[in-house]
Amino acid sequence: MKIKLLFLALALPMFMMAQDIILPQPDMNMKTTLGEALQKRKSTRSYTQQELDLQQISNVLWAAWGYNREDKRTAPSSQNKQELDLYVVLKSGIYGYDAKNNRLVLINKGDYMSATGKQDFAATAPLNIVIVADKNRMAPADDNRQLATASINAGYISENIYLYCAATGLGTVARGSFDAKVLTTLLSLKDNQMIILCQTVGYPKF
Ligand SMILES: Cc1cc2nc3c(=O)[nH]c(=O)nc-3n(C[C@H](O)[C@H](O)[C@H](O)COP(=O)(O)O)c2cc1C
Repeated sequence: MKIKLLFLALALPMFMMAQDIILPQPDMNMKTTLGEALQKRKSTRSYTQQELDLQQISNVLWAAWGYNREDKRTAPSSQNKQELDLYVVLKSGIYGYDAKNNRLVLINKGDYMSATGKQDFAATAPLNIVIVADKNRMAPADDNRQLATASINAGYISENIYLYCAATGLGTVARGSFDAKVLTTLLSLKDNQMIILCQTVGYPKF
C-alpha cells in the first residue's frame, strides 16, 4: 500500500505535466531586416489550416512577451508592472504561456478555437493568442485608467507579433471582436483578470 501511494505521489505530477507543452528555446536568427518587416507588416484574415511547429510557436510567443533580460521583456509595460499574460489557444487546448520556463501550461483541453472570435478564420487558423491583464498586478487607479494602461501595453505585444510574423512569412491580425464572457469562462479567468485583445497567427492563404 505504502509503495502504491509513493508511486502515485511521484507519478501524478509527472502525468499532469505531461499535458503541458515544453517549447524549444526561441530562435530569433532571421535574415529579414526591421525595415523589411515594417514594409511587410499587415493584417491577414485568410489562413491555410497548416499547423505551426513548436519552434514557431516558441518564437512568436518570445517575440511577443518573452524575457530578453533577466527579469524584463521584449515589450515595455508602464512602471514595469508586467501585468499582462498570454493565453495560447491551439487545437489541442487552451494554455498559459509560462515565459520564464518556456512552457505552455494546460488550462483546458479541447478545441476552443472558434470561441476566440466572431470571424470564421479564428476557428481554422492554427494559433490564437489572448492577451489578458491582471488588475492585481497594476498600479491602483480607476477602471478606465487601468484599462487604458493595459491596452497600451497590450499594443506593444501585438505589434511584436505583427513584426515577427511579417519577418517570417506568417500572417496575423489583432482582434478586438470576441465574446469576452464566453472566453473568460473558457480561460478560467478570475475577477481581477480582463481580456484585452486576441490575435490570430497562421500561414496566409494569399
Ligand atoms: C485594437 C485592434 C483591434 C482590432 N480588431 C480587429 C478585429 O476584431 N477584426 C479584424 O479583422 N481586424 C481587427 N483589427 C485589425 C485592423 O482592422 C487593421 O489593423 C486595420 O484595418 C489596418 O490594416 P493593417 O493592419 O493591414 O494595416 C484590429 C486592430 C487593432 C489595433
